[in-house]
Amino acid sequence: MLWKDIYELGVPAIDAQHKELFSRVEAFLQVLRSKESWEEKLPKINETLEFMKGYVVEHFHDEEEYQKKINYPKYEAHKQVHIGMVDYVLEVSKQFEESDNNENLMQQFGGKLLSWLINHVAAEDQQIADYAKKEGVSGNGR
Ligand SMILES: [Fe+2]
Repeated sequence: MLWKDIYELGVPAIDAQHKELFSRVEAFLQVLRSKESWEEKLPKINETLEFMKGYVVEHFHDEEEYQKKINYPKYEAHKQVHIGMVDYVLEVSKQFEESDNNENLMQQFGGKLLSWLINHVAAEDQQIADYAKKEGVSGNGR
């Protein structure tokens, strides 16, 4: 399990989304590393890509709403980081289609996705929780 409880922000809805992202990325990496043929892996890989394109956008939106609610001062900068990640996922997905499902591209993507997720959730998202704590705004934003 890649998820660690120290990644929690103390906001149940956001934490649940982060956990879902971790488990999806973990399953994705397992598919990439499995001994199945590339043809066998492809449907699962495409399914993950489709999921990511939708879920990541939804999750970022919810997290940004929470940041606004607690007047998080680094909201704008954080939003730019989210936009950059969405653009990256869309770009890779496009390249994957255009390259006729290039395996190397996906292997690279899997690694980047994991390191991005861990770094972002463990560092940048934690700053939101630190701020909420410092300001005494409750974790659920109410
Ligand atoms: Fe974030």
